Amino acid sequence: MAIEWREKWAFGDDRVDAEHIEILLVVNQVLIAFEERASRPAVSALIQALIKRAEDHFSYEEHLMSDAEYEDREAHHNEHQRLIPALYIMVSDLLISAISDDNSAIGRYIERWFIYHLEKDDAELSAFLLSR
Ligand SMILES: [Fe+2]
Ligand SMILES: [Fe+2]
Repeated sequence: MAIEWREKWAFGDDRVDAEHIEILLVVNQVLIAFEERASRPAVSALIQALIKRAEDHFSYEEHLMSDAEYEDREAHHNEHQRLIPALYIMVSDLLISAISDDNSAIGRYIERWFIYHLEKDDAELSAFLLSR
């Protein structure tokens, strides 16, 4: 089931907001592909598109954090570092067929992958930037 954008996720920086929405679009494409039981290579290609967008986005956020001398930037950076390999592992598991056909668990994982970081690390960064 596709995730709808929630107003509470607004970050307050136009580029970050636009990138979050783009990432959500790709997350939703992945979720739909799983639901429709698309071929493994097709799903892998979508996840690789997600990795690309996430990498670009994370590097922009890291830029914002260092410019602002954000005190929690190391923890936030570490989270970004953790999120990318999680997707690579998913791609390789898919390609070697280590992921079962019960895709609901993957859907939930990828939903959490997106929402948790947005509601925790990104929300904290947004509050810091807006409080300055
Ligand atoms: Fe973000
Ligand atoms: Fe982030």
